[in-house]
Parts: sequence; C-alpha cells; structure tokens
Amino acid sequence: MPEIMANTNHGKYPILIRTGALAQLGEVAAKTVRSRKAFIVTDETVKGLYYDASEKSLKASGFEVASFTVPAGESSKCEKNLFAIYDAMHEFGMSRSDLVIALGGGVVGDLTGFAAATYMRGCHLIQVPTTLLAQVDSSIGGKTGIDMPYGKNLVGAFYQPNAVVIDPGLLKSLSRTRMAEGMAEVIKYGCIRDAMLFEAIEKGQADMEWMLARCVKIKTTVVQNDEYDTGERMLLNFGHTWGHAIEKVSGYTRYTHGEAVAIGMVKAVELGEKLGETPKGIKERLLNVLEKWHLPTSTDLPVEDLYQTMLSDKKKLNGKVYYVVIKEIGDAKTWPLSEQELHDLL
Ligand SMILES: NC(=O)c1ccc[n+]([C@@H]2O[C@H](COP(=O)([O-])OP(=O)(O)OC[C@H]3O[C@@H](n4cnc5c(N)ncnc54)[C@H](O)[C@@H]3O)[C@@H](O)[C@H]2O)c1
Ligand SMILES: [Zn+2]
Repeated sequence: MPEIMANTNHGKYPILIRTGALAQLGEVAAKTVRSRKAFIVTDETVKGLYYDASEKSLKASGFEVASFTVPAGESSKCEKNLFAIYDAMHEFGMSRSDLVIALGGGVVGDLTGFAAATYMRGCHLIQVPTTLLAQVDSSIGGKTGIDMPYGKNLVGAFYQPNAVVIDPGLLKSLSRTRMAEGMAEVIKYGCIRDAMLFEAIEKGQADMEWMLARCVKIKTTVVQNDEYDTGERMLLNFGHTWGHAIEKVSGYTRYTHGEAVAIGMVKAVELGEKLGETPKGIKERLLNVLEKWHLPTSTDLPVEDLYQTMLSDKKKLNGKVYYVVIKEIGDAKTWPLSEQELHDLL
C-alpha cells in the first residue's frame, strides 16, 4: 500500500493511498490509536454511499461506533453543526483518547477536523477524504475550521490528523464537474512542482493512485516546510489569488472553486509572461489540459472588480500581493507586487 509519512511539528502520521483502503479503515485505526470508541461525521450523500462499509470495518476491529450526519454542501460548515457534533460526542461518552473520523469531502473534513481539534482540547482524528479535492488538498496540511456569516474559514485551527486514508475507488461516484474541480488542483501541483505529473495529465494516461500519491507528496512536503502558512505554502496559491477574487465577485454560485482556480491559473501565467518570468508556450499547454477537463479558461467579470477584491484578500502582506509565477512547468516562485505594479500590469 503506498504510504507517505507526513512530518509535522507535532509528530508523524501515515497517509495511505490505495483502491479498497476504506475496507481497511478499522485496521488502520486500531494500528494508529488506542481508542475504543469511533465517532464518524459524514454528510447525507456520502452516508448513503460509504457509511456502512466504514462502520463495518471499524466494528470488525473492535470499535464501538456512533455517527453524526450533516446535510451535503458548504452551508454545513457552520457553528450550529459544530455544537451539535460536540453534543453528540458527549452523549456517546467520548473522551479525548477516543477517535473522530471525517468521512466526506472538504466540508466534512474541515468541520470535523475543527470539532476534533477543540472537543476536550483535542482528540484523535482520522481523515477519510471522499472527493478528489479533499484527497489531494483539504485532508492534508492540518487546516480545519468553519465559515462564519461574515466570511469563509474565519474560525479554525491547525490540527494534524493521526492518519489519512485515501481510497481512489470512492471517486467513481463523483460527478464529472466535481472530478474536474479536483483536477484543477492536480494541474496546479503539476505546474508548480511536478513536470512529470503535468505531462501525464497532458497524455491523459495518469493512473489515479499514482497521481494522488504525487499530489499528496507535494502538499506534505510544502506543508512540512511551512506548517503555519507563512512562506513556501504560498506556492499552493497558484491560480488562487485570481481564483478567490473570481469566486467572490461572482457570488460563489457561478463557478466552482476549481473552475475559478482554472481561470486564475491562466491569468497568473499571462501575468508571468508580462513580467518576463514565464516563457512562451506554457500558456498553450495549460489551456490544453484545462480544456481536456472542460474547465473554463477566461471570464467576463470586470477586471477592476477583481483587482479591488484581490487587494482586500488576506494574502496581501506588507502592502504587497504575492503572486505565484511559473518559471517552467514544474517550477514556480512567489513574486511580490505592490498595488500600483499590479494595477499597471492589469
Ligand atoms: N483545509 C484545507 O486545507 C482546505 C483546502 C481546500 C478546500 N477546503 C475546503 O473544502 C471545502 C470544499 O470541499 P469539497 O469540494 O470536497 O466539497 P464538499 O465536501 O461539499 O463535497 C462536494 C459534494 O460532493 C459530495 N460527495 C463527496 N464525496 C462524494 C463521493 N465520493 N461521491 C459522490 N458525491 C460525493 C458531497 O456530498 C458534496 O455534495 C470548502 O469548504 C473549502 O473551504 C479546505
Ligand atoms: Zn484550491
């Protein structure tokens, strides 16, 4: 079983990547933690698909199991569900040495991760990501949290799991749009760190297990060097400075996150060309892989609105916007731009 060890300031944890890994959840849990109780948080869609198998596996390894299910969708990443999860954990008699399992996409992962980080000041946690986005991105790196009425991800904690169990077989039930959304992040990893991964996507022959392992390796390495997101981790924002602005200006409904990032990557490459940092030819290769996945590559949203939104973005440090520019496929660096420079370039 491909296993990647993530090293953090708080110790190491295994990330297992294997088709069929869900059936081994109990085994992995028993090996990783000494808990008796396992509390699964999931959403309504994932519950219908993968809850029974998870419960069965945990019970077979001797765990007593209880669960809590939230509706599917971003609006579930809220304080009301967080407190309802605490209540259900209390009723189940959970102590801090017991185990919480996040079974779902990034919404369940963030919400459950934060519940695990804060219940009794932190209990054991295993992430079982079920969307491509969650498998390559949100389940790795330890960022957890909830949305507030006045903004996304505003309350949260850095909290590393005890293990991550990634089963590519679970992606079979994902819609094409959701797969494409995750592929935008995979393409991002190729652009910033992995020319071989990018080439495999270009050829359309990437094996899913192999591809997930490449992405997870990049994310764990970058996070390892910058656990609290103050430096190198900024590279993971390739396409996201524009992407977040596009999502915000279009009211979070017109584009999925991955679609906004796809457009953002094209914009970032164009900007890199203007700066003389990104060589010709890269844009064509990027457009080609994005189009393969039916991801959008441009938008009619007003540039001035996007610019204003970017400036108010949290990535603005010391009055600068940190752009990620691609030097070559697989090689990127951050490039600070003042408001004036950015405005002139646009
Ligand atoms: N913590 C981080 O570092 C980090 C990074 C990126 C994104 N995020 C967060 O992740 C969230 C988005 O995650 P997401 O895109 O996974 O969304 P999601 O969790 O809402 O899942 C998307 C949809 O797919 C369904 N689904 C999940 N797995 C499925 C499967 N195997 N088959 C069929 N349907 C399935 C879900 O029920 C949901 O309706 C956002 O809240 C974002 O802020 C966090
Ligand atoms: Zn993203």
